[in-house]
Amino acid sequence: MSNIEKLHEIALQLVSPHKGILAADQSPRTMNKQLEALGLPPEAELRRKYRQLMFTTPGIEEFVTGVILHDGTIRNHTDDQVQFSDLLVAKGIIPIIKVDTGTVPHHGFEGEVVTQGLDGLQDRLQEYYDMGARGAKFRTVFNISDTTPTEQNTLFDCMTLARYSALCHEVGIVPIVEPEIIFSGPHSLERAEEVTTQVLKKLFEIMSWYKVDLRGVILKSSMVLAGSEHPDQTSPKGVAEASIRTFQKTVPDTVPGIVFLSGGQTPQRATENLDALAEQEEQMGGLPWELAFSFSRGIEQPVQQAWMGKDENIPAAQEALLKRLRLNSMADQGTYDPSMEA
Ligand code: 13P
Repeated sequence: MSNIEKLHEIALQLVSPHKGILAADQSPRTMNKQLEALGLPPEAELRRKYRQLMFTTPGIEEFVTGVILHDGTIRNHTDDQVQFSDLLVAKGIIPIIKVDTGTVPHHGFEGEVVTQGLDGLQDRLQEYYDMGARGAKFRTVFNISDTTPTEQNTLFDCMTLARYSALCHEVGIVPIVEPEIIFSGPHSLERAEEVTTQVLKKLFEIMSWYKVDLRGVILKSSMVLAGSEHPDQTSPKGVAEASIRTFQKTVPDTVPGIVFLSGGQTPQRATENLDALAEQEEQMGGLPWELAFSFSRGIEQPVQQAWMGKDENIPAAQEALLKRLRLNSMADQGTYDPSMEA
C-alpha cells in the first residue's frame, strides 16, 4: 500500500460508522481549571490519573476510533508504565496528537486571535509518529461579531491549517482540521451560518490551492447554531438543517468525514443535535461525508463529576464515560432519545 493510500485508510478508519473521537487533549492549564472546578488541586499526578481512568475503561474501543491527546499525555503512562499511546493502540484506537500551541491576540485586529504551532512542526510530527500517532489536530478560533471574523484573520488561519495539513501528510499523519466557530455570544443562527460558510469556503479553497489531498483530511467543525446568549436557541432540527446546508455549500465530497466539537453545549444538547443530524442525513438519503462526534466537554463533564478525584469513584466515572459514548454512538445512528438519559 502506498503512503497516500495508507493516509486515506486511516482517515476512513477515524470516521468508522457508529463511532466517534474522544477529545481528551485539554492543555495542562485547561485541565487544571477543570480540576479546580471540582475542588481538586491542579496537579500533574491527578491529570495523569484522570486520563488513565478514561483510557483504561473496558470497552471504549466499541465507540471510539481515536483519542486526541496533548503533548504531555502522549508522553505519559499508566501506573504500570505502559505508554498511553501504546495502551490505545493495543485496543485498536488511533492516537491523535493536538499540535497547535494555542492562540494569541491578532495584533491590530480587535477581538480576534491567531493560532500558533507551525514552528518546528515537521520534527514534532515525526516524533509523534514514532510514538504511534496517526492523526493530528490543529484548532483555529473564529469569534463572531458584526465585524469579525475579518477576511485577513480568516485567510491567515486557513493558510496555517493548509500548511499544517501538508506537513502531516509528509510524515504519514491524518490532519484533523478544526476551524472552531465560537458558540458563546449573542449572534443569531443566520449570522453563525454566514460566518461558518465564509470560513469553510475559504479553508477548502486554500487547502486545494496548496494541493492538500482532501481524501486524507478530516474536518472538525462546530455545529451551526445561534450563539449561547441569543434569545432564540436553535432546535436540534434547526441545527441539523443549517449545518448540513452549510457543508453542502462548502465541503468537497472528497473529504471522508466531518466530526463535531461540542463547543460548550451541555452533553445532552450536543447528543440531541448529533442525533438530529443523523436523522436529517437519513431523510436526505445520505451525504458524501461520514458525520461523527469528537467531543471533549460534551463527553467528559459527567465523567469528572462522577470521579471527583477519588479512586473509589473510578468504576462510576468509567460507567459515566461509557454511557455518554454509547448515547453518542446511538445519536450517530439517529436512534437516540432523551429518555435514554435517565
Ligand atoms: P469541546 O467538545 O469541549 O468543544 O472540545 C472539543 C475540542 O477538541 C476543542 O478543541
